[in-house]
Amino acid sequence: MKLWGGRFTAEAEGWVEEFGASIAFDQKLVIEDLEGSLAHVTMLGHCGILEEQDVNVIKKGLYTLLEKAKKEELVFTVANEDIHLNLEKMLIDEIGEVGGKLHTARSRNDQVATDMHLYLRKEVKNIIEKVKGLQEALVIQAEQHVETVMPGYTHLQRAQPVSFAHHLLAYYWMLQRDIERYEDALKRINISPLGAGALAGTTFPIDRAYTASLLQFDGMYENSMDAVSDRDFILEFLSHSSILMMHLSRFCEELILWSSQEFQFIEMSDAYATGSSIMPQKKNPDMAELIRGKTGRVYGNLFGLLTVMKGLPLAYNKDLQEDKEGMFDTVKTIGTSLLVMTGMIETMKVNRDKMGKAVQQDFSNATEIADYLAAKGLPFRQAHEVVGRLVLQCIRQGIYLLDLPLTAYKKACPLFEEDLYEVLSPQAAVRRRNSAGGTGFDQVYAALDKAKQKLYSC
Ligand code: ARG
Repeated sequence: MKLWGGRFTAEAEGWVEEFGASIAFDQKLVIEDLEGSLAHVTMLGHCGILEEQDVNVIKKGLYTLLEKAKKEELVFTVANEDIHLNLEKMLIDEIGEVGGKLHTARSRNDQVATDMHLYLRKEVKNIIEKVKGLQEALVIQAEQHVETVMPGYTHLQRAQPVSFAHHLLAYYWMLQRDIERYEDALKRINISPLGAGALAGTTFPIDRAYTASLLQFDGMYENSMDAVSDRDFILEFLSHSSILMMHLSRFCEELILWSSQEFQFIEMSDAYATGSSIMPQKKNPDMAELIRGKTGRVYGNLFGLLTVMKGLPLAYNKDLQEDKEGMFDTVKTIGTSLLVMTGMIETMKVNRDKMGKAVQQDFSNATEIADYLAAKGLPFRQAHEVVGRLVLQCIRQGIYLLDLPLTAYKKACPLFEEDLYEVLSPQAAVRRRNSAGGTGFDQVYAALDKAKQKLYSC
């Protein structure tokens, strides 16, 4: 007999029952569901809705289930549809009919919303810690490489030399904003829908603020229909997670490029690479590729839920049961991607020489000479033109700007002096970019200090 079976005369066939059931995945909420029930029944006693004696028996039963849940001893069944009904049935089996009083002044609609808020609060905090772990790995690598000079790119063409640490720290700050977005989302995750009932509140004199405080929520939903029917707190989590994955994916794309034969800027640890079943020489950056690939499923989870929600009339609809798998999947995907990423960064070997050679053999110091002339009073636009012609001359002769003799420079513009060669080295080019937030070594050392302070202060 179903817990809601009173008005039914026929039973659903097994496969239909299975189609409607969520127990296969919402059993992940077992602890949250029991904690929510404990708060609810405590409140029912506190408000005199249930007698203390009943409350105590129910609490004892719930604690027994909690113990079993922690030991993973509970066996759920599809016949009982979801985590809420499974647990209620188990409670009644455990303590008898009095267990049926637990659901007084509550609906599965406010119950499931409460479970999801509790679950996401816990997981978002875990994710923030993992993002910090990745930031730490970046800082540790960056500390070794402030004065490691590499080509900086725009359009994937060599643009201006940069410090490798500066490049790594760019991701540190992206991740910092990811953390801040999650922290902001926690403000809306950490509010209580409990007590909203099915949609309209309840006739019992409940105390919603009391259950909210027992569950350590910072506040509660103002409107009962809103409380049971919106899932924007999950959508926010999925959006912020999509942005985070986008950051990881861009970074992975760079790691993949950098470990190619064409770049050879880094070498991934064997622990994060795999071989080919046919080509013995191969070392593939599989883990980085996989994170880039998994970004797709996180975006998919966001779009899945947005689409589920877009046409739903208020208040609860069974469609909302579809909010869970994408959320669980995202929590898992984000968590493991962050850990793998952290390991990859910690263990990768950086090939200083290759990076250094790359900036010797290009024209990424062309801006230096244009700046040199502009500093001597030539309008920058004209300086740009002069240097452009010098670059063309070099390309035709198969040489670089450092190889051009002073006479050639003077011929192009009389403002050139011997000291022009000092600005041409890639090291100098980086050192001199000392504007706030730039790649100049002094700026990068200061940025590292700031990053560490942020990381270790909270
Ligand atoms: N398993 C359901 C879900 O995940 C719980 C809420 C069911 N409420 C209802 N009125 N059928 O959404």
